[in-house]
Amino acid sequence: MYKIVIKGGKRLAGEVWVSGAKNAALPILASSLLARGQSTYRNVPGLGDVVTMRKLLGQLGAKVRGDGTTVIDTTNVNHFEAPYELVKTMRASALVLGPLLGRHGQARVSLPGGCAIGARPIDQHLKGLAAMGARIELEHGLVNARARRLHGATIVFDLVTVTGTENLMMAAVLAKGGTTLENAACEPEVEELARVLNKMGAHIRGAGTPLVTVEGVDELHPVDHAIIPDRIEAGTLMVAAAITRGNVLIRDCMPEHLDAVTAKLRAAGAEVTYEEGGVRVVGKNEYRPTDIATRPHPGFPTDMQAQFMVLMSRANGQSVLSENIFENRFMHVPELLRMGADIVIDGHLAVVRGPVKLKGAKVMATDLRASACLVLAGLVAEGTTEVLRVYHLDRGYDHLERKLRALGADIRRVRGGL
Ligand code: EPZ
Repeated sequence: MYKIVIKGGKRLAGEVWVSGAKNAALPILASSLLARGQSTYRNVPGLGDVVTMRKLLGQLGAKVRGDGTTVIDTTNVNHFEAPYELVKTMRASALVLGPLLGRHGQARVSLPGGCAIGARPIDQHLKGLAAMGARIELEHGLVNARARRLHGATIVFDLVTVTGTENLMMAAVLAKGGTTLENAACEPEVEELARVLNKMGAHIRGAGTPLVTVEGVDELHPVDHAIIPDRIEAGTLMVAAAITRGNVLIRDCMPEHLDAVTAKLRAAGAEVTYEEGGVRVVGKNEYRPTDIATRPHPGFPTDMQAQFMVLMSRANGQSVLSENIFENRFMHVPELLRMGADIVIDGHLAVVRGPVKLKGAKVMATDLRASACLVLAGLVAEGTTEVLRVYHLDRGYDHLERKLRALGADIRRVRGGL
């Protein structure tokens, strides 16, 4: 096991390159199942969830090699089950449902079960697949889905779901006839997946808006594609620069994917400027308290809520953070309280009072973004912070501590911890 040890107080300076987007890479790698042959994916981030997805595709019979550039040959895909062991560690494994059903007419995927941040069911995915003609049976914790050939349908999501939209888009591209997805997720990663599918020969329109239409085709061909930058990693680095009163140029990110985060950082008082090839963040000594409410894109991303909370612990006054996407995404709060933060939770609201001087402590990561938040807290805390269970961080970040160290942070990964 490893832990991350941070000595707080260093101001970050310099420039840092953002890796490929985890939440784009996962559906895109799964979409390789929709075509027979060898696809090449570039700028693939080096993180745990991508390793799990590669392992899953290998278990289905695909030949998978490489990492930063991943090559997947689906010629011999002959298994159709995503086992509990893999799905439990990564619920995005459910993203093979649509492609397997769409191209092979069968899929068995373990129900993901809950995770630290909430129940996270896939009822919307299953409702859509059934509307497209799939026979869905739930047995022994597995979803058993079959369909001779899916047919198009009009699907109205009861709520906005990112991977639900992605799964059904992938199910629809080889279905017979047209499919309409209403109340679809508008995240940049959904738009990027549609871009890849269209490069493979699909006919998708409207991705990135709440109304997506798909005209089914008979076959798709393999693709060569470079993954877009990770907007959540970029946002995390922006907060790191702001909270340490640093001056950092975050390169290779797409500012247009960061408008909500940029708006809130500016409202709080950070200096954020879009430069050629990146975003520069200059931190300040004082911050204004700033409320946020997490919403589906283009609203403030839930994946940035924990990181922004740490910044608000440095603000002069009271900020209200409203978490509207997941029912239990304040797992980082008890650990921040142990570092001296002043936060009160009331249902889906967290009231953060500042400025407080955070004190270094041994803290436990509980989920992906909570671990990033604890690293950010360690950057500004007095003394030493040890973040345990960093496998949570490694699931979703590509060597974050290496990037922070290159910007001047006193941070290192050492053996030990739970
Ligand atoms: C995606 O998860 C992301 N993961 C999450 O990122 C992100 O937090 C989330 O979207 C919201 O933006 C990937 O893209 C791999 P949802 P997803 O379906 O698709 C409920 C990270 O930190 N819901 O949009 O699983 C669900 O419980 C991760 O990188 C249903 O009730 O999220 C949640 O409350 C964490 N039924 C809400 O909708 C369903 O069938 C939004 O979930 C589907 C979802």
